[in-house]
Amino acid sequence: MNTSLLQERETPFYHYDLSLLQSTLDHLLAAARDLPNCHIHYAVKACATPAVLRTIAQAGLGADCVSGGEVRAAFAQGFPADKIVFAGVGKADWEIRLALEIGISCFNVESLPELENINAIAREMGKTARVAFRINPNVDAHTHAKITTGLNENKFGLAMDDMLPTIRHAWSLSHVEYVGLHFHIGSQITDMLPFVHLAERINTLQDQLEQAGITTASINVGGGLGVDYDHPDAHPIPDFEAYFDVFRRYLCLRPLQSLHFELGRSVVAQCGSLISRVLYVKQGHEKQFVIVDAGMTDLLRPALYGSRHQAVNLSAEGEKAEALYDIVGPICESSDVFLTDYRLPTTHRGDLIAFRTAGAYGEIMASQYNCRRLPGHLIEPADSNALAQ
Ligand code: LLP
Repeated sequence: MNTSLLQERETPFYHYDLSLLQSTLDHLLAAARDLPNCHIHYAVKACATPAVLRTIAQAGLGADCVSGGEVRAAFAQGFPADKIVFAGVGKADWEIRLALEIGISCFNVESLPELENINAIAREMGKTARVAFRINPNVDAHTHAKITTGLNENKFGLAMDDMLPTIRHAWSLSHVEYVGLHFHIGSQITDMLPFVHLAERINTLQDQLEQAGITTASINVGGGLGVDYDHPDAHPIPDFEAYFDVFRRYLCLRPLQSLHFELGRSVVAQCGSLISRVLYVKQGHEKQFVIVDAGMTDLLRPALYGSRHQAVNLSAEGEKAEALYDIVGPICESSDVFLTDYRLPTTHRGDLIAFRTAGAYGEIMASQYNCRRLPGHLIEPADSNALAQ
């Protein structure tokens, strides 16, 4: 990070390191190289900053979108339509129309009424929509309750028992074509075992489908691979080898079947940091508070999930003395706390603090609560030391 250039910018803002993004993509593609008929989609919901999207599209990944806005953003930044998949429990009519107009590769359908609506809109438009069904595999991802999705009876997907009747129903409809099954068990999963369970569950479901005479062209296993929030410098690139190895070893793909992944966090988390400035250092009775100009409006994850993003004082180079601080934002909410009892070099008003591992679900989840401005961003290109917008 070029600290002197960061100094000049108005804070808070996100900094993206495109060389790290590029090497993450290189590792990802190398790790998946020998998986047959494999397609990796980037989950746009993690970060839709244009330069980030462009870099990922140029690497050849497809896009996994959950709204018309994401479909538009992905298409505009160079993801080919036939590599875009569109999921989400509540697709509005205009979003379905937009996706059909662009000619996306597949709708990941999550309910029967949605299927019927897609069929009706496709009929109106004289098109056929390719659909995959999101099945809830009832696999425990052992992750934060707010980002687990694969357990029975949540708002996502169809129950396993509804799989066969829904596919049969799709066959009876004139303007949809059944192409595959879609799964997603949760996010920030660092233990590979839930993915093994997912692969085994998919094998069982595929056996059931075959017994019923149903062929499935594609299997989409979703995303969810986690990153190391505690040690971003030791593990800047996630263990893609171990992740893909699970599917290589445990998933029984049928001949010619394609395998799809939808990775978000593992692609972009480590390449982004939120840069903030210290407004005040406040001495309490038992604690010292570092009050920064970034808050939960800029990075919601600590307040929403209790997540810890490592903090670095970028202005304290050479400072030997350290102290324990609570690092907090300016928002009028007591949950607007980044870190408690956190060790930093002695910190002063005006210092720059970087919150690491903020590339995924950071800038994209920012809000204007308290009438604040949305954070800006600064892109560090892959091929030079210059900083660009
Ligand atoms: N596919 C589907 C259907 C998803 O719902 C998600 C994430 C992904 C793929 C990408 O998952 P990833 O590879 O990023 O784990 N805001 C939360 C995370 C929400 C994840 C939602 N779905 C956070 O900040 O931790």
